[in-house]
Amino acid sequence: MNKKPKFHFTAPKNWLNDPNGLTVFKGEYHMFYQHNPVNPYWGNMTWGHAKSKNLFDWEHLPHALEPGKDLSEDRDGCFSGSGFVMGDDLYLAYTGVAFEEYIYNEHGNKVLTHDDAMISTQIFAKSSDGINFQKLKKPFIKAPKYGDMAHFRDPKVWKKGDIWNMVVGSKYENKGKVLVYQSKDIKNWELKNEIQKENMGHMWECPDIFEIQEKHAMIFSPMGIGTQEQENLAGYMMGDFDYKNAEFKYKDFHLIDEGFEFYAPQTFEDDYERRILIGWLIMHSPFEGENWTGMMTLPREIKRVGEKLRFSVVKEFENYRKDCIKISDETQSKVIKRDKNLYDMELEFETNKDKEIILFENCQKGLAINFNSKTKTIILNRENVINGLESLKTFGVRRESTKIEVEKIKLRIIVDTSVVEIYVNDGEICMTAVVNPEKDQKNIVLNGSFSNICIWDIKK
Ligand code: FRU
Repeated sequence: MNKKPKFHFTAPKNWLNDPNGLTVFKGEYHMFYQHNPVNPYWGNMTWGHAKSKNLFDWEHLPHALEPGKDLSEDRDGCFSGSGFVMGDDLYLAYTGVAFEEYIYNEHGNKVLTHDDAMISTQIFAKSSDGINFQKLKKPFIKAPKYGDMAHFRDPKVWKKGDIWNMVVGSKYENKGKVLVYQSKDIKNWELKNEIQKENMGHMWECPDIFEIQEKHAMIFSPMGIGTQEQENLAGYMMGDFDYKNAEFKYKDFHLIDEGFEFYAPQTFEDDYERRILIGWLIMHSPFEGENWTGMMTLPREIKRVGEKLRFSVVKEFENYRKDCIKISDETQSKVIKRDKNLYDMELEFETNKDKEIILFENCQKGLAINFNSKTKTIILNRENVINGLESLKTFGVRRESTKIEVEKIKLRIIVDTSVVEIYVNDGEICMTAVVNPEKDQKNIVLNGSFSNICIWDIKK
């Protein structure tokens, strides 16, 4: 397993997508995730499960939800959803799907013959030990009559005062929207409102509304707003959520991560009142010779600054920093030899001149991070570190950040085997990329002048 990251969560084997049911239960973090237990491609959606005390060392547990077990509404999959604690129990809310017309694809997985040939139902499950879950008879929430029965999924449940709230992603007349439900007892739910926005794609997946420093944010994953390379993107809108009318008054849409494969994030609040986000890094197929596909981002704490959110790796990650290497200010060009693609690095530079950093480098070939002093943007180019892996090519090789209009930039770069997360100015911008380095692609090259350069090995 050469390419398996050490700090980014992956399934023990086979396919993984969205994080689900992120919660703290009896002092431990629980992560569920969309998992295909059969092979490393999408299908047979089951809820994988792991728990952790520190968000980085995960203990894998038996599957929490399996399709078709005890129910027919979820016979073809237990799609994404959320978790919440009520009394002494851990609850899950998820989408059960039943395929009406399907075929078996080249990997032997059951897939729809056309996008609309399924019925989706919101279903709840409950556990007292946080390991064994029992699916509940009530509620079973069907799509509203005028709605789209196929595309109605990813319930996120949270409590405010005495009211339980739930947002569900959906689609109607080829436009994405979020349905907002409320309940007093989690059994009977009333559809209270809808959240929509013009020209924002044909389906909104994985909605999540939360309070953040006296405001609200809605995170969601609209399908069809990106480019041909990456049609589906994940972002947020800041605003105010009025619980009485279940109304959300929102402002502009912003991307959460401006890198390549970030999608379907979910947030939760932990015991320290931190709002933490984990996103999925999409891979369509495994690295050559490996039996796992897909990884999660590092857990990111969210803060609000004005009308924008900032994301930074939770502070526990610093416990894994070992042996800081300080590098004297660099003015020209420097090669820093590394023996592993496992480090956490910080550096600063002035924005009046172009800069280049090459990671995963060997003979000048690697992942290029360029700062362009004219456009004031960061450009990521991974064409020299894809090494033929088709599944990365589908997302393209180049990304350019939004404009950064400050005199000095501070970067934090975390490199973990086959993935890199870049945080610009304390998480104002994040850029994440999965890469496929060859054995010798390990060095760091700095071209231009940099200051306060510090590199830590990261070790468990
Ligand atoms: C997002 C998503 C969800 C769905 C799940 C199925 O990646 O499409 O909307 O519930 O994945 O695996």
